[in-house]
Amino acid sequence: MNLNVDAFYIIISLVLNLYLGRELLINENTKGKIRRRRRRRRRKRKRKPTRTFMEIESDLKKSSSPVTSMDQRWSLNGTTALVTGGTKGIGHAIVEELAKFGAIVHTCARNETELNECLKQWEDKNFKVTGSVCDVSSSVQRKKLMEDVSSVFQGKLHILINNAGTGIVKPTAECTAEDYSHIMATNFESALHVSQLAHPLLKASSSGNIVFISTIGTFIVYQGGAIYSASKGAMNQITKHLACEWAKDNIRVNGVAPSVIKTPLIENLFVSMTHLQLRL
Ligand SMILES: NC(=O)c1ccc[n+]([C@@H]2O[C@H](COP(=O)([O-])OP(=O)(O)OC[C@H]3O[C@@H](n4cnc5c(N)ncnc54)[C@H](OP(=O)(O)O)[C@@H]3O)[C@@H](O)[C@H]2O)c1
Ligand SMILES: *[C@@H]1O[C@H](CO)[C@@H](O)[C@H](O)[C@H]1NC(C)=O
Ligand SMILES: *[C@@H]1O[C@H](CO)[C@@H](O)[C@H](O)[C@H]1NC(C)=O
Repeated sequence: MNLNVDAFYIIISLVLNLYLGRELLINENTKGKIRRRRRRRRRKRKRKPTRTFMEIESDLKKSSSPVTSMDQRWSLNGTTALVTGGTKGIGHAIVEELAKFGAIVHTCARNETELNECLKQWEDKNFKVTGSVCDVSSSVQRKKLMEDVSSVFQGKLHILINNAGTGIVKPTAECTAEDYSHIMATNFESALHVSQLAHPLLKASSSGNIVFISTIGTFIVYQGGAIYSASKGAMNQITKHLACEWAKDNIRVNGVAPSVIKTPLIENLFVSMTHLQLRL
């Protein structure tokens, strides 16, 4: 799969999320389960041929009115967004898409050179994007990031995309305590704490949105992905809880669980995957 196609679907899902309040993940209530069971039974009786991804993609291309980022019906003009990890991969695509819709975006990454390079490119494209150097696995740096965000956006944040994250592919028996702490701090603790710090700002905007970037690995097993999936599984749990806890503050909380997307993360993991004979 390539970045453009998959990133396109993620971004469309995110936008649908923000606008229509669709729950893409989660909320496995009993009613839902019963409904799904009935539906499965019905489907068994009359099984329609399933459309392949390629067919759906080809239909989308043929469609006379494709939904593009510049679609007049949608605008994020004037809304404020924080996207963690926006210099590469999925985060980079999200920053650009939100900015194209008119949002004012703040992003962060650890590598200052790459962050400045991205900020320069975005300025050239007339996107309103600012940035902070921040390692989201550090509590001190997360607090500093949110101070920057609060000052840039005058205390109001509409959209928080918890995207920064990293992966590891290693047999669980070989994983060290450091592997565990690094993955949990970068993927889970960061997303939880950034959300906590953002809560007053999201509440102040009167219409807050949080999107957690999880993984399909929380639903199916990829060999060597136990700790990575566990960190994202914890993320799925707080997605449900925050959705309920913060609904009263008019903050919508959702998660997106992408499959494999060709980004620098996956390209680097590929190298470590070869010894496990995993194929994408
Ligand atoms: N690619 C996939 O197939 C896939 C599938 C499912 C879920 N995901 C999830 O999607 C998210 C993005 O993945 P990606 O593939 O786009 O990754 P990526 O290509 O490695 O990009 C990650 C971005 O986050 C930043 N980042 C990484 N660690 C950080 C840290 N500790 N503090 C601050 N920024 C940090 C990176 O910049 P710096 O290195 O400069 O910090 C970079 O901008 C992750 O949460 C990942 O788990 C990816
Ligand atoms: C965005 O909103 C501002 C003021 O709120 C307005 O001046 C501007 O024309 C709007 N831009 C677009 C593209 O709608
Ligand atoms: C930051 O990114 C630049 C450009 O990609 C690279 O040359 C440099 O080694 C990176 N710095 C660190 C500390 O990773």
